[in-house]
Amino acid sequence: TRNGVEFAVADLELAEFGRKEIRLAEHEMPGLMALRREYAEVNPLRGARVSGSLHMTVQTAVLIETLVSLGAEVRWASCNIFSTQDHAAAAVVVGPHGTPEAPQGVPVFAWKGESLEEYWWCTERMLTWDGEGPNMILDDGGDATLLVHKGTQYEAAGVVPQPDDNDSDEWKVVLELLRASLAADGQKWTRIGQGVRGVTEETTTGVLRLYQLAAAGELLFPAINVNDSVTKSKFDNRYGIRHSLIDGINRGTDVLIGGKVAVVCGYGDVGKGAAESLSGQGARVIVTEIDPICALQAAMDGYQVKTLESALPEADIVITTTGNKDVVMAEHMARMKHQTIVGNIGHFDNEIDMAGLARYPGIRRINIKPQVDEWVFPDGHSVLVLSEGRLLNLGNATGHPSFVMSNSFSNQVIAQIELFTKHEEYDKEVYRLPKKLDEKVARIHLQALGGELTKLTKEQAEYIDVDVEGPFKSEHYRY
Ligand code: NAI
Repeated sequence: TRNGVEFAVADLELAEFGRKEIRLAEHEMPGLMALRREYAEVNPLRGARVSGSLHMTVQTAVLIETLVSLGAEVRWASCNIFSTQDHAAAAVVVGPHGTPEAPQGVPVFAWKGESLEEYWWCTERMLTWDGEGPNMILDDGGDATLLVHKGTQYEAAGVVPQPDDNDSDEWKVVLELLRASLAADGQKWTRIGQGVRGVTEETTTGVLRLYQLAAAGELLFPAINVNDSVTKSKFDNRYGIRHSLIDGINRGTDVLIGGKVAVVCGYGDVGKGAAESLSGQGARVIVTEIDPICALQAAMDGYQVKTLESALPEADIVITTTGNKDVVMAEHMARMKHQTIVGNIGHFDNEIDMAGLARYPGIRRINIKPQVDEWVFPDGHSVLVLSEGRLLNLGNATGHPSFVMSNSFSNQVIAQIELFTKHEEYDKEVYRLPKKLDEKVARIHLQALGGELTKLTKEQAEYIDVDVEGPFKSEHYRY
């Protein structure tokens, strides 16, 4: 704590650099700046205590300061051990008007290169307020939501289960943390869960967890699925990845992508962006899919569709985008060409079998630089694994650029306002934002790009059965 602001970041002296990049980003985030202007008088988030778990980048700094300008108090942690930009974290703590000696900003608990213990400690600190707890959660991947739900569940049972051999190292860390917290205060997570009015969730993987909780009747508060706003998943997941996938590969390896064979596992929104990113550099792209519809889309887009097993012998780059587990196994990597680049851009690190790789008989790990490891097999061939299998666009590079994140985060801010101000109108279910708001977010960003939107005549609107002002599509339209 300094000047009354609690924080755990790498170095507050980086704040000036962070502030300069935040200033540039603000210009590239017209949606967030428009929301600041729109709500300047009203302060709809006054009284909101937002606990946020989302990659602590420059773009997220603009999101945080937008929430603050709408009246919220905020505490923040990153949702990945490698994704924090330390200068952005420092600038948020210092605030626009503070100094490193006398910070005036927002409590942030995040630095690049946390251990798993540190990561979950940061998540707990972010959820732990002086006095009353958070009344809103803003989540990316669902780790904050998970901690509150598991904590509540174990407090009700009065006991935290012992880890078993099949549990991941990370889950063991979570159980350890919850055991300590149960011993110290048997009602901590229950109280937090009862105080939260709602959660707004950023990504595909976190949304999946929310629907599972809701289906089991275990969701403790209403949730808004921000990911499935069209202006989120059809933009961030796709065009964001198109930008940041090759950025991560380039910064990590500097290997020429043109002419290489790149395998993209999964052809959902992220996979589509990934394939376009690599083929834009001149790579020959092969797609693996389990869903015949997405597989056919890949074929129609000009990519070869194969299984990973049959694509392996020619692959130079293998990227996972599935949000699933066990997609690239140690046995796959054992059969790859020398110095094949292996990376994941899905939310969690279980898409690539890092545990199996580390256990592989005779394997040797050579750290090339932070977030780049060469794993050498006993036969002498090696694979280059980026960010230890964690999402490489944020681990090896700086994630998605501001403009696309402005779309995602505008939806986040609108969703926060909605749940904070109207939580009584929502059940403990998962909701999406109305299409009208989606169109509003798109309209602002189109304007910023100088796009000219055609206006429907009244007769045309009647003919296609929509309102002149929108929404322009039915709920089942897929974009
Ligand atoms: P999606 O559901 O649209 O796409 C995933 C695709 O993978 C689906 O088409 C599915 O059929 C396919 N798939 C599942 N298991 C597979 C397997 N074993 N082999 C091959 N294909 C398989 O999901 P979306 O939106 O594309 O997100 C994917 C992941 O990326 C999620 O974990 C999401 O949270 C994450 N994400 C990461 C971002 C980043 O900046 N790194 C940005 C946005 C999302």
